[in-house]
Amino acid sequence: MTDERLIVALDFHTLDDVQKLVGELGDSVNFYKVGMELFYSVGPGVVEWLKSRDKKIFLDLKLHDIPNTVAGGLCSLMNLGADILNVHASGGFTMMKTAADALHAEAARRGIQCPKLIAITVLTSIGDAEWFGAKKISEQVVEFATLAKDAGLDGVVASPQEARLIRDACGENFLIVTPGVRPAGANIDDQSRIATPAAALHNGATHLVIGRPIRAAQNPRLAAEKILAEMHTA
Ligand code: C5P
Repeated sequence: MTDERLIVALDFHTLDDVQKLVGELGDSVNFYKVGMELFYSVGPGVVEWLKSRDKKIFLDLKLHDIPNTVAGGLCSLMNLGADILNVHASGGFTMMKTAADALHAEAARRGIQCPKLIAITVLTSIGDAEWFGAKKISEQVVEFATLAKDAGLDGVVASPQEARLIRDACGENFLIVTPGVRPAGANIDDQSRIATPAAALHNGATHLVIGRPIRAAQNPRLAAEKILAEMHTA
């Protein structure tokens, strides 16, 4: 049975590469992340193709603009049928609430299921040395997460290291999607604020986004299966 807590990032720029990896992973992975690189090169067709294969999609386009524009943009994206859409929490409470309200109203008007809407807190690539805020990163993340919840969003994207604080502040029914996850024993490069799959889940993450450790593996299916096994030890 597929474990939908694992979301594999399709950071490619051709549909051929997507089809090859999705084919190799087969039924071991059911949830994929389509981000800027892929969407800007291939366009909406990639989402349609994944849906035709019964895959779930996190469309990670990180909208950030004035409330009206973000709301309109999300309603356009809803046509594609992705399962999760996102915005930047730093766009503010009004932006997030306008976006969530518009998405719910549009889904109700069309009689379709509303995609989940989640907010980016603080990019997980930012570490203490680069951080520009007045508060500690973890405090800012929790503040953004509570703001997102109050605005009617379904969850956040955050570092696995902050998942526990978010879970405590936002309660059980809140999605916590964590990139920056590396298998135990992996060679860590320049990334900050990362954790292993088991630690991320233990901290309260609901979904793990993993890209390069699977895409760059000689045998991606084996790499995914190892990560899934690690997740089950959490
Ligand atoms: O690093 P990896 O290839 O696993 O990244 C998968 C996805 O997670 C990327 O598409 C990126 O958007 C996100 N990511 C992140 N913060 C990191 C590393 C990756 O948000 N520190």
